[in-house]
Amino acid sequence: MNVVDDKKIVKEYFNSTGFDRWRRIYGDGEVNKVQLDIRNGHQQTVDTLLDWLKADNNLAELSICDAGCGVGSLSIPLAEAGAKVYASDISEKMVEEAKERSLQTLGNAENPTFTTQDLEKLSGNYHTVICLDVLIHYPQEKASEMISHLASLASSRIILSFAPKTFALSLLKKIGSFFPGPSKATRAYLHRKADVIRILESNGFSVQRQSMTRTRFYFSQLLEATRK
Ligand SMILES: C[S@@+](CC[C@H](N)C(=O)[O-])C[C@H]1O[C@@H](n2cnc3c(N)ncnc32)[C@H](O)[C@@H]1O
Repeated sequence: MNVVDDKKIVKEYFNSTGFDRWRRIYGDGEVNKVQLDIRNGHQQTVDTLLDWLKADNNLAELSICDAGCGVGSLSIPLAEAGAKVYASDISEKMVEEAKERSLQTLGNAENPTFTTQDLEKLSGNYHTVICLDVLIHYPQEKASEMISHLASLASSRIILSFAPKTFALSLLKKIGSFFPGPSKATRAYLHRKADVIRILESNGFSVQRQSMTRTRFYFSQLLEATRK
């Protein structure tokens, strides 16, 4: 499968069965045990990141690009905490849902802004660029291109999360839980932490903070890197 197919399949998935599945996982309604585990794991990643950024005490001064924002799980609390957030996602269904949730939670449509956009087509300049749990959908070569592109949009900092290759065996056993049923065609790619750090460094960034979230069915390595 080539990378163009990966992107097309991912987009279709998050506009159909993937949308229904992940909207529920990233919600607060009833879900099965596996989905609940993933929901809790993802929330831990979001909470860790929010704790980092709030501890810096400068959110109100920051412009933040949230690339692959999903239903707004991070963008909405970031805007609530005072940051100016530019959120985007390749799936129009995810973006529609994010807009609705944002309106319900924050009562305005100005911040965050949500647009349907492939992250490789994003332009502009932001203090911080964030891309959470998106790289899992792309093989290393494409992920490296994506990281380089996102780095070019960040004046100060880039924050990424990905499923690390260390957990390959346990994760591969569970991959059916990530993409059940007909959408098994959607693949989950693991990335070596060393490869991600190397590509960040080659773009002029160095890692500052890192955190690993690991539950039974959810694995996510979070890295924050700033311009050297
Ligand atoms: C597992 S979800 C994570 C959502 C969100 N970042 C979060 O952590 O709540 C992955 C998201 O990445 C989006 N995505 C995948 N490929 C993308 C691309 N090339 N550009 C923008 N978004 C993309 C999907 O549509 C989906 O909403």
